[in-house]
Amino acid sequence: MAKAKTQFVCQNCGTVHTRWAGKCDGCGEWNTIIEDDPLGGIGGGPGKTPKKGRAVALTTLSGETEEAPRVQTGISELDRVTGGGFVRGSAVLVGGDPGIGKSTLLMQAAAALSRRGHRIIYVSGEEAVAQVRLRAQRLGAASTDVLLAAETNVEDILATLAEGKRPDLVIIDSIQTLWSDIVDSAPGTVTQVRTGVQAMIRFAKQTGAAMVLVGHVTKEGQIAGPRVVEHMVDAVLYFEGDRGHHYRILRTVKNRFGPTDEIGVFEMSDKGLREVTNPSELFLGERNTKAPGAAVFAGMEGTRPVLVEVQALVAPTSLGTARRAVVGWDGSRLAMILAVLEAHCGVRLGQHDVYLNVAGGYRISEPAADVAVAAALVSSLTSTPLPVDSVFFGEVSLSGAVRPVSQTAQRLKEAEKLGFARATLPSSSAELPKGRKGLTEIEGLPDLVVQIAGS
Ligand code: TYD
Ligand code: MG
Repeated sequence: MAKAKTQFVCQNCGTVHTRWAGKCDGCGEWNTIIEDDPLGGIGGGPGKTPKKGRAVALTTLSGETEEAPRVQTGISELDRVTGGGFVRGSAVLVGGDPGIGKSTLLMQAAAALSRRGHRIIYVSGEEAVAQVRLRAQRLGAASTDVLLAAETNVEDILATLAEGKRPDLVIIDSIQTLWSDIVDSAPGTVTQVRTGVQAMIRFAKQTGAAMVLVGHVTKEGQIAGPRVVEHMVDAVLYFEGDRGHHYRILRTVKNRFGPTDEIGVFEMSDKGLREVTNPSELFLGERNTKAPGAAVFAGMEGTRPVLVEVQALVAPTSLGTARRAVVGWDGSRLAMILAVLEAHCGVRLGQHDVYLNVAGGYRISEPAADVAVAAALVSSLTSTPLPVDSVFFGEVSLSGAVRPVSQTAQRLKEAEKLGFARATLPSSSAELPKGRKGLTEIEGLPDLVVQIAGS
């Protein structure tokens, strides 16, 4: 029998290489390739003959359909993001930075479901039973019928789940701790995680239980280790927020049973997560709305919209040469905006110090922030605060023209969801309403329009 060939698997994207390399061709990451068994020791190895196939019945596209049966938590911010509750027989991956509040959110969801008469099993691989209990007490969930286990072995978890409790929903916290006996790789490797997740998904499909899997996110913003897991599950939710702030956002990035552009907003308190039904208040609460020099930028992070405040301070220089300092944006891009303002708009900033800061420690990489930056600069220079309920976006070219940016609709939707009523954006944006309804031209700036939300 041929000796099983070892292969090298990228721990970031799952690409299989025949030999070790420092850099993965698949995703461009360094030092992510390790020796791993891609088949995970299950089935199909060399020397095995595949079983004879069985023909399945083919069917047509028309025919009976039914709404996916769901388990609703009653936590409306969560139910909206899942598209109306967790779907039975499906698997949902909840990703987020360590410490952002995934376990807290899911414990609260488990307690809420249990109070509605659902059978919930919470499997913690990261914390001991005592720790989970302590959190449950803090969240007021201790008196519910949620069943708890601290276990990381896939086979033991499956045996526990199959033991006749017939759960409606199972929470696995987290997939990075899962390990299976049938795989030789070390715990935490792509193969281990993938095998564990596969087993959990199979359990969900067979029993009709909803499966919620928790996954940590790396600093690049991907579910740690295998991206492959994102393809295996039915829905992927991200839980995110700035550690220095109390608000948290739950966002869908994939959903086979619902929309992917909904967000749920929560606030972390000493008694767990509280739903924020009017998120704009929370965001605006942290802003000094009357201060000149602040503009809200409606940005995108990959496929995810983010609203951030751009702050500018323009003051007459006391030194010979004017100072420019930028935090969270590209310094040369700022120089370009200053030059365009000077050359095309008659805004003289040569004798002024300019400081630019992106609030919340964010870093903006998009040129779409140009218009927001320009608005913040002019607002600071003229000591005129910008409208509180307005967001800004659009790319500025050297000729002084404003160019449209991608995903206008998503930016506007996010701004509207967060309570903003107006947006200043390129008039040539493709996704603007055809009849120009709700659009106002800005005098002297033909490249920009103001869109009024909901019209
Ligand atoms: P946790 O749910 O453990 O995060 P994750 O599972 O994503 O790693 O939450 C961790 C943080 O939340 C921790 O720093 C403490 C804070 N927290 C509160 O502020 N209030 C609470 O009631 C709870 C349970 C946690
Ligand atoms: Mg946790």
